[in-house]
Amino acid sequence: MTSFKSSLGQVFTPEPIADLMVNFIDKDKECSILEPSAGQGVFIKKLKEKGFNNIESFEIDSALCKGELGIKCEDFLRINTLKKYSIIIGNPPYIRPHNISIKEKKFLWKSYKTASNKTDIYAYFFEKGISLLKYGGKLIFITSNTYFSLESFKKLRKLILDNCCIESIISRIPPKTFNAAVNTSIIILTREKDFNKRKENMIKYFEITDTDKLSFKLIREIPQQVFLNDKNYAFTISWDKEYSDIIDKINKNTKQMGELLEIRNGLATGDDIKFIKNKKESSIDKPVVYGKDIKRYSLDYKHKYVHYNPNKMLENRKTARPASKNWFETNEKIIIHQVGGSNIKGYLDTDKYYATISTILIKKNKNTPFDLRYVLGILNSSLIRYWYKKQSVTSTVKLSEIRRIPIFNIDLNNKLEKYIYTQIIRYVNKIQTLKKMNKIKDKTDEYDKKIDNLVFNLYNLNKQERNCILNLK
Ligand SMILES: C[S@@+](CC[C@H](N)C(=O)[O-])C[C@H]1O[C@@H](n2cnc3c(N)ncnc32)[C@H](O)[C@@H]1O
Repeated sequence: MTSFKSSLGQVFTPEPIADLMVNFIDKDKECSILEPSAGQGVFIKKLKEKGFNNIESFEIDSALCKGELGIKCEDFLRINTLKKYSIIIGNPPYIRPHNISIKEKKFLWKSYKTASNKTDIYAYFFEKGISLLKYGGKLIFITSNTYFSLESFKKLRKLILDNCCIESIISRIPPKTFNAAVNTSIIILTREKDFNKRKENMIKYFEITDTDKLSFKLIREIPQQVFLNDKNYAFTISWDKEYSDIIDKINKNTKQMGELLEIRNGLATGDDIKFIKNKKESSIDKPVVYGKDIKRYSLDYKHKYVHYNPNKMLENRKTARPASKNWFETNEKIIIHQVGGSNIKGYLDTDKYYATISTILIKKNKNTPFDLRYVLGILNSSLIRYWYKKQSVTSTVKLSEIRRIPIFNIDLNNKLEKYIYTQIIRYVNKIQTLKKMNKIKDKTDEYDKKIDNLVFNLYNLNKQERNCILNLK
């Protein structure tokens, strides 16, 4: 059960972080400042210490609005004002959508254009914050950085790019700073009307280098245009010139995986204690695998069975997602470990395993022109490891990320391409067979390297680019 405090996203900013953020204010002491979710008022205290007094602030929890800081006890997302501010600073609440009431969700969906199914509440603080900024004014927020790349924040990224220059991003905030299990970043935005200025803006990307002193270093400058040109408006903070050249190359003559194949999550029983068993007791008990059982090109089946009765699952819990039987009973499918850390790990299943929600399943549709082994070779290659690692900010492999993987659109009438295609399939078969027999790792490593090189050839990558991909830690 979520407590009242955590349902309001009450994680307070440590003083040194507030200090660091306030130091980014480069306006005169009389400038108008807004703190939209004041909490215990750490930003207000810091601002006052530095001589800023023209501060307005809001906080929804009446227990925190008392005292001499002048915090107004109101829901910031519902205030009606025409006032504009020079500075908006704070740490908006981090509340996952399933912890927001239906009534509140209805209001948010109606009132905010960045709303989408899985949007966290901090997105609305960005949206309202930007709308209350003067042109030339600055918004300085510390938040989870899930909005950098997740599909559910695409509208927020677009809104930011349509209205602001991203002045700076500061990452690697020490995890101990907040007792929340999310990666956080500070972003500094300037509201900017002029499209060309936004387009030509160079974003300063910093990282905290000394966690005790909170000193930070400029790592790189990123053209804002890079974010704007991305199909998903992803804030790729790991961007560099080499990455950009590689991405340009690998996007050529490719199709996104979602255009070629059917992709979905594995099944959610809603109640594993009831539906997952250690023994097969009836004909509808089916061998089932979890994400962690999936390795690159192999499967570590733990002899579990799912009592596959979709109606019973749904009757038992509304959260059940049994998926259709066809997904599991198909002759061939790729299964991916969804909580993959920094790697995509795929296995070709030809034994009709059922698979749980911690997996992603891929199968052909009637228009898919390629063998699944070809797709698997690309998926498990160093190139896609690089592609994924450079743009992903969470440790869970997302369906939307898998759908975007660029698959080389091979021309089977072209002799060379056809040769590479058949070789990839051949080596994928060999690796899976050897791994099934627990055979010598050296051999599978050799085939792995061969697939890597074939994939590099297909995507036309030169030696320097190959090294850059292989050397990514
Ligand atoms: C992450 S905390 C940060 C508090 C403070 N700014 C700090 O940095 O220490 C977010 C605060 O937002 C408050 N809050 C949640 N929803 C709010 C809303 N709709 N309007 C105003 N405050 C809200 C919570 O009660 C919580 O105190």
